[in-house]
Amino acid sequence: MSRDTTADLQSFRTFLQTSRVKVDRSMDDILPGARLKPSVIHQAMRYTALSEGKRLRPALVLLAYDENKGRSKAIHKVAAALELVHAFSLIHDDLPCMDDDDFRRGQPSSHKVYGEGTAVLAGDALLTEAFRVVASTRRSFGAERVVLLIEELSVATGSRGVIGGQVLDLQSEGKASSRTTVDFIHRHKTARLFECSLKLGALAAGASKAAVNRYSRFGQAVGLAFQIVDDILGASGTFRELGREPGRDEEREKMTYPSAVGLQKSHRAVDRHLLAAKKEIKGFTRQAALFRGFLETIDRRRRDAKGQFLGISQ
Ligand code: IPE
Ligand code: IPE
Ligand code: MG
Ligand code: MG
Repeated sequence: MSRDTTADLQSFRTFLQTSRVKVDRSMDDILPGARLKPSVIHQAMRYTALSEGKRLRPALVLLAYDENKGRSKAIHKVAAALELVHAFSLIHDDLPCMDDDDFRRGQPSSHKVYGEGTAVLAGDALLTEAFRVVASTRRSFGAERVVLLIEELSVATGSRGVIGGQVLDLQSEGKASSRTTVDFIHRHKTARLFECSLKLGALAAGASKAAVNRYSRFGQAVGLAFQIVDDILGASGTFRELGREPGRDEEREKMTYPSAVGLQKSHRAVDRHLLAAKKEIKGFTRQAALFRGFLETIDRRRRDAKGQFLGISQ
């Protein structure tokens, strides 16, 4: 790795540390207090939303906003809203009727602690809360822009986006893997929310249509790279690294990138998506280094300490 790449990576790590403090503070302010009746659902919402995750999606909101010279602190609410949507998707994803995972982020999954009924409702409540929070920023960004944010967030999370991807993910369990299907699944269940995070940041700052489209392409590319890496790690990572049990995809006969094309080609696909993403940020000025550092973070997750690709014997 060159010195420049290491510097970008370090800058991104530092940025992520500071941004997560702000985003967590914002989520803490937004979420109903743990004692508010009915307290069990408010505890459940807080349990997952505030637990130890990477907070990548809110970081992308902030970066896209700043790259487009946005200056309002209200963007932290939009960033927090993206993390609330993500937390909703994680709670539902782990349910027995979906991936049936007992652990998430190193702790028992929501339904293991609160029961299935409350976990379903906590997910629902996190999703609806996210829309309230975005709507509440209208005094800062203006009603017209906020309507655009809400529209994009709705499409990205609904059956045309994340939820649609989750449907196909479930339907594909136990079926022969196909690259086209797994691409569809990844594009929707994961890449769409990355794309949405960047677009919301850009739209809140009043970016041009051409600029917003650029974030769309960048978000799709990094989202796809991210999910392929998640699939690679799911096959070879440890409980400590994953925060949940490894080998679950194979047990549940999930359609993953490695199951569709093998590990070698999965790594090559990550290369291609990261390269495509890099092209999109060539003209960036203010936050170019942090965007590059973000790409480097994804690239590093799929390598061992020596920089070799995970799962591939050299
Ligand atoms: C996990 O996302 C779900 C996927 C889309 C792969 P992250 O890996 O970003 O999860 P956290 O937020 O860091 O726990
Ligand atoms: C998660 O996909 C996607 C969403 C939560 C929308 P996975 O099921 O592959 O992610 P992990 O591996 O459980 O985090
Ligand atoms: Mg899943
Ligand atoms: Mg899962």
